[in-house]
Amino acid sequence: MEIIIHETYEEMSKSAAHVVAHVLNSKPNAVLGLATGSTPVGLYKELIRMHKEDGLDFSQVTTFNLDEYVGLSKGHQQSYNYFMYENLLNHVNVPRHNIYIPSGTTDNYRAFCEWYEQRIKECGGIDLQILGIGGDGHIAFNEPGSSLGSRTRIKTLARQTIDDNARFFEKPEDVPIYAITMGVGTILEAQEILMLANGEKKADAVAAAIEGPVTSQTTASALQLHRDTTIYLDRGAASKLKNIEYYQWIQAKRPGAPTGGWR
Ligand code: PGA
Repeated sequence: MEIIIHETYEEMSKSAAHVVAHVLNSKPNAVLGLATGSTPVGLYKELIRMHKEDGLDFSQVTTFNLDEYVGLSKGHQQSYNYFMYENLLNHVNVPRHNIYIPSGTTDNYRAFCEWYEQRIKECGGIDLQILGIGGDGHIAFNEPGSSLGSRTRIKTLARQTIDDNARFFEKPEDVPIYAITMGVGTILEAQEILMLANGEKKADAVAAAIEGPVTSQTTASALQLHRDTTIYLDRGAASKLKNIEYYQWIQAKRPGAPTGGWR
């Protein structure tokens, strides 16, 4: 696990965008796992800029989104489908038929979840998974108590998540109670994972995920079991890390480290 701390949200977003660009440049038909929420918006903005100004090409890319609210149609302004098109997919050249976002309105969730898992496998698995982290330490909608081996399924949202996400809805009671989400086990199968967090309101969850025990009570802590996870933080999100000086020391000493051995 590598921890990279930037002063600002903008720097964090740009630095993470370079990782995505590197993956696409070395594997043009990469499979990307995409996240929603306010955290990755800056990263997506930078990817759009790179596409428009530097020719970053998404023409062979496939994308799988992490989650969707149950009950919201694709066109609903708070749906994650709508979010993805507004914030990234309308502005880059991912072929429409390569875009997978869980359905919030299927009439058979069990079959849909199985199909979603199967499609990820058939596409060769996720090369790079982008993640945010919830205030309760969740990744995707894997709320506290989610099995660390879980697969795509329906989850009941935690009160804290409903409260956190109420800012996007007209009334707090409009926030859906259920979501369809990739599982922790699904996420852990990605080749590479990039988790982003910004702001002091995420500092406790970030510290628990990185420095706490691996526990289903903080599903982001399962990333400690993954072989190739990098966590990008701004100063606020990093503010409760006990070993912050060591993480910064690693970054400072990285240029002199033997190739491949500096983690
Ligand atoms: P946020 O959500 O980016 O809107 O803070 C993150 C999450 O809940 O995973």
